[in-house]
Amino acid sequence: MGTQGGFMKPRGPLMIEHRLIEKMLALADRKAAAMTPDTYDPLFIDTVVDFIKTYADRTHHGKEEDILFRELETRALSDVDRRLMNELVEEHVFGRQITGELVEANTRYRRGDASALAVIADKLETLADFYPRHIVKEDKVFFPAARAYFTDEEDQALLAKFCEFDRQMIHEKYKSVVDALEGD
Ligand SMILES: [Fe+2]
Ligand SMILES: [Fe+2]
Repeated sequence: MGTQGGFMKPRGPLMIEHRLIEKMLALADRKAAAMTPDTYDPLFIDTVVDFIKTYADRTHHGKEEDILFRELETRALSDVDRRLMNELVEEHVFGRQITGELVEANTRYRRGDASALAVIADKLETLADFYPRHIVKEDKVFFPAARAYFTDEEDQALLAKFCEFDRQMIHEKYKSVVDALEGD
């Protein structure tokens, strides 16, 4: 865990989240590749999708896009850093698109379309292949470069915003669960 002068850096929590996302995508890919019509478990796919949507996209990309990247937008970024930030945002969009296709394939399979099982495995393979490369770009290149645009005080303010963002997530998540049940 990165600490500097006794303080955690804002990229600390993001990197911890990366480790869990990597683990989930690798295990989801492994399990889905071994799935047959007999062992198919739609609830497993639902769990993976919930993890991707709530944890990886809303909670993790939320801190990146709504806090870190938004703050960086106000700075005079170098061309290289700006290009990389745009690329990272595009990769988030790509991840959402693949997740949407995964959800759709899971629904089709539940409705009896046997061919959707291979699509589910394929979408999880795509995510497990591309996302770790996205993480490497952030951990090794973008996060260290982004640090240079903030003073120590601004850096700690970012970390505080991350904590507040996370604090709200559990409430947002379960409010949405109740809202969805109410709408049934
Ligand atoms: Fe990202
Ligand atoms: Fe990330």
